[in-house]
Amino acid sequence: MEARRVTFYRVYGFSAAHRLHAPWYDEMKNFEIYDKCNNISGHGHDYRVEVGVSGTPDARTGFIIDLVDMDKAVQSVLDKLDYKHLNKEVPYFRDRIATSEHLIGFLWQELEKALPAGKLYHIKLWETNNNYFEMERSATR
Ligand code: NI
Repeated sequence: MEARRVTFYRVYGFSAAHRLHAPWYDEMKNFEIYDKCNNISGHGHDYRVEVGVSGTPDARTGFIIDLVDMDKAVQSVLDKLDYKHLNKEVPYFRDRIATSEHLIGFLWQELEKALPAGKLYHIKLWETNNNYFEMERSATR
């Protein structure tokens, strides 16, 4: 029997602060683009992140990934963000605006390294209850 790919999703959370500010624009332009998110003191979010891993079930365990291993891998990445000020404490954002578009890129880069090779399939990142962002591995991998 041919083994079918299965995707497993698990939801995690972390809290972080950021400020949306582009050094290549002046103060007026920054305020125009980012409005209150440009506030010099920054502001925080309780982010939620859904991580999807895909594969075929292991012949012996029946799992596509060991849950404890997955939690450890994901947590090691979230620890780089949790209770941090993204602009000031996470080097990835030294030359990138700390938007969720870039934050999900950081999560992809780091989770790809932390999880078993080829398992990461999908990430969903909620910045607020109303806004979320997604990244998915392309079908042509
Ligand atoms: Ni924000």
